[in-house]
Amino acid sequence: MCTKNITGMILALLIILGISFCMESTSTMVARQLRVEYKENPVIDELAPRFSWILEDEVRGQYQTACQILVASSADLLEPGEADFWDSGKMKSGIMSQVIYQGESLQKNEKYYWKVRCWDKNNNPGTWSNPATFEMGLLSNADWQAKWIGYDMIHLGKGKIYHLPPAPYLRKKIELQGDIESARLYVTALGLFEFIINGEKVGEDYLNPGWTNYHKRVNYQAYDVTNHLMEGTNSLASILSYGWYAGYVGYALLAGLPQVKGFYGDVPKLLAQLEVVYANGEKGYFVTDGSWKASKGPLLETDLLEGETYDARKELTGWDNPGYDDSKWAAVTEYAAPDIEIQIHPGMPIRALERIRPVKITKRPEGYIFNMGQNFAGIIELKVKGKAGEKVVLKYGEMLHPDGRLMTENLRMARATDTYILKGDPEGETWQPRFTFHGFQYVQLSGYGSEPDLETLTGLVLSCDHPVTGFLETGNSMINQLFRNINWTQLANFLDVPTDCPQRDERLGWTGDAQIYVKSATLNRDVASFFTKWIVDLNDDQWETGAYPNFAPTPYIRPKYDFSPGWTEAGIICTYHIYKSYADKRIVEKFWPNMEKFMDFYEKRSDGNYFFKEASFEDIIPKGGFGDWLSIGKKTPPDLIATFYYGFCAQMMAEMAETTGKSDRAAHYREVFDKVKHGVLSHYTDSDGKFTCNESAYGDGSGYIAGELGFTGHTQTAYANAIYMNFYSPEEEMKAGEYLVELIRQNDGKLSTGFLGAKPLLPALSRTGHSDVAYDLFLQTEYPSWGFEVMNGATTVWERWNSYTHEEGFGGERNAGMNSFSHYAFGAVCEWMFGNAAGIKIASPGFNTITIRPEPDQRLGFLNSSYKSISGEIVSNWKYVDNGFSMEVKVPVNVTASIYVPVGSADNIMEGGIPATRAEGLKYLGMDDGYAIFDAGSGHYSFVVDK
Ligand code: BGC
Repeated sequence: MCTKNITGMILALLIILGISFCMESTSTMVARQLRVEYKENPVIDELAPRFSWILEDEVRGQYQTACQILVASSADLLEPGEADFWDSGKMKSGIMSQVIYQGESLQKNEKYYWKVRCWDKNNNPGTWSNPATFEMGLLSNADWQAKWIGYDMIHLGKGKIYHLPPAPYLRKKIELQGDIESARLYVTALGLFEFIINGEKVGEDYLNPGWTNYHKRVNYQAYDVTNHLMEGTNSLASILSYGWYAGYVGYALLAGLPQVKGFYGDVPKLLAQLEVVYANGEKGYFVTDGSWKASKGPLLETDLLEGETYDARKELTGWDNPGYDDSKWAAVTEYAAPDIEIQIHPGMPIRALERIRPVKITKRPEGYIFNMGQNFAGIIELKVKGKAGEKVVLKYGEMLHPDGRLMTENLRMARATDTYILKGDPEGETWQPRFTFHGFQYVQLSGYGSEPDLETLTGLVLSCDHPVTGFLETGNSMINQLFRNINWTQLANFLDVPTDCPQRDERLGWTGDAQIYVKSATLNRDVASFFTKWIVDLNDDQWETGAYPNFAPTPYIRPKYDFSPGWTEAGIICTYHIYKSYADKRIVEKFWPNMEKFMDFYEKRSDGNYFFKEASFEDIIPKGGFGDWLSIGKKTPPDLIATFYYGFCAQMMAEMAETTGKSDRAAHYREVFDKVKHGVLSHYTDSDGKFTCNESAYGDGSGYIAGELGFTGHTQTAYANAIYMNFYSPEEEMKAGEYLVELIRQNDGKLSTGFLGAKPLLPALSRTGHSDVAYDLFLQTEYPSWGFEVMNGATTVWERWNSYTHEEGFGGERNAGMNSFSHYAFGAVCEWMFGNAAGIKIASPGFNTITIRPEPDQRLGFLNSSYKSISGEIVSNWKYVDNGFSMEVKVPVNVTASIYVPVGSADNIMEGGIPATRAEGLKYLGMDDGYAIFDAGSGHYSFVVDK
């Protein structure tokens, strides 16, 4: 071999070595579930959108050390060095949610492609994710060339009690000159709309554009309608309804208020803009304007609360197709553009999430009663065959009277009735209402000439289309049903705003209910975008005083400036939980001034005392506000509760200030909390640390909710809140826990809390070492308890502990009307189910660090749970096995956990077959309160504890 060859070979070897030295090995870690502003492939109007993803990898202890995001105007350009809008380069960052876009300025109507790759703990890059997209909608009011149009038929509303005018039908013929490359429809209404192109409904959504304070804002929808259109003549059409804008809202009719409907306007109006891109690159714009035509149609009555009447004989056959002759139709009215913001809808649309078959039909003198087997919110689809003019009337109820009659007393003035008049089609007729919804399990059908069967009705479950995040199952069927009931109740009440109930003449976004339940809501479904939307509503309707209203949006059903402690704090509490659950600092920044204004309001109301002494809220209606609404027995002073909430908000404000870099404000609010704490404990506790109050300050209690029962500070609600809201030193807290347990024992082992006391009750017991008592209450099946309603056949959560009892039925005069069977407030026990029973606790925003500390109880046998957090799926399962106890935990990639394994000593815990103290990825930290604590990175861990 010549020297030249040897030199060549050495050189080649060196090159190969060099290359492999320079080449990073690749990681198995991959990013999935790419989301922009909380949604997959959305249309947005945010100029600095936030990107989120989750990571998957089987390697234990895996995490992200860097990431690279590419954003391009076409899928082809989605390569490093080519991405024309943003190539972030390798960003050293462990953050995988809410990563703010920093590229070229994003343009209206444009679609963007993006992907991400992340470097793992060894600084090895993972593979690129699959590409995802986002699209910019219209970005400001100036981008709308369309005009607001409507057709005034108010005078056609008739009826003594309800004034229900028909639905306007609108249409317009358009010509498209050439091949269509793509087409987008931007559309909204003041009122409700369905949009139809060439006879086909656009999208699958219901009740668009949802409810906002229409005096300030309306949300729009964007649809890709490329496949709806064709070259040549096309028709654009729409049916409008009155909805929250012009229809009946809340209980104004019941209360006999001067204004009962039309809180924002009378005539529903449509705003629509179709933007077509032709194959040759030219663009065409088609908008609503005075050239549209209008008519009355078969939808004779249409109202959210009262229902619809549809006369199929009056159908305008072919009206929504291009060939229709609309020469006899009226011209629409063009309206001046209102001075309000028009924004893309931040939330998820309302959709028919499930179709439900009836389980039973019972014939009664007044009609056939269909049992749908499940209480839910939504509509029905009706299938009938009969003579023209047959009038089928559908009434809805949640319960039946013991004699089998439909119970409608609790609907109060909500007529909740749909009527369908047959056209007599020999092939049969199918109909569903469009612009209403009902809360029901039973449907009474009358007026049908034929015998109905189980095919006659189908239930359509309407709710915002939120991805499911929480799963929980135990060895106890009552608890499993309770969890299902909580979920069904959330579905029934998350229709664009979080409502108290879906059936009676109320359905308002009560702030107290929402603040109590928000954390539970996040655990069951991904409600980030829902609350992003509703927190805007809440701030839009914040009073000038700084108080947040009793419900949002706020039509003036109650007096202006109305508020109640326990309700008014929703502006702080809901914002805090959205920040905390989804690492959303932007929402904190956005509403920071509003939240400060609220805190100032409370400070002023406290007269510089930083607590509220008895009777501080005599000036509001009802006196003291709603207090511990629906509690049992003597009332907790509402002023004491208000003080707890004041301190609770101060703590949240301090944390939110800190996280957004306002350390002086953080210090201020910590100080406020200290003052509140001191104020409440010195004013409201006796020398033994028992809560007490000056009962005489409330006189005979008149004007207060259930004031006739008297007031005392020594209640379950008082201790539960004080513990939950961190008012105590560790010693004081233990003592308060004892008082709480004592009160439960004195009450025959039962709870006595209302809305504000029930949520913190079990967490407070657990926190003070009384998990067993928490389980006693949780597993209780006698009145009052969560189990009581389940054992009485509930399929949703009831408003009252005694919404129904065998002895008193629906409570007679006392609560027949005020008695919803689908009220999520008491469902806030879900927070304890996940946080304590399953032990999944958030430790830092976005679940970036977590604590898994289950509280097992033999009575459940086992518990399996999972939560799909914004940082990935967390699993916590535990089970009693023959010789001990087993526990499965999954920690998502890029998340660290403190895992608490309940056990006598650390020596008898095995993980994956080896002593846990030596298992890969686990670091044993020591024992605390009977738990062995391990630090863990990502991975699946199976612990077995030999007892
Ligand atoms: C609602 C409640 C609400 C309350 C105020 C009721 O009518 O249904 O859930 O919070 O009023 O006390």
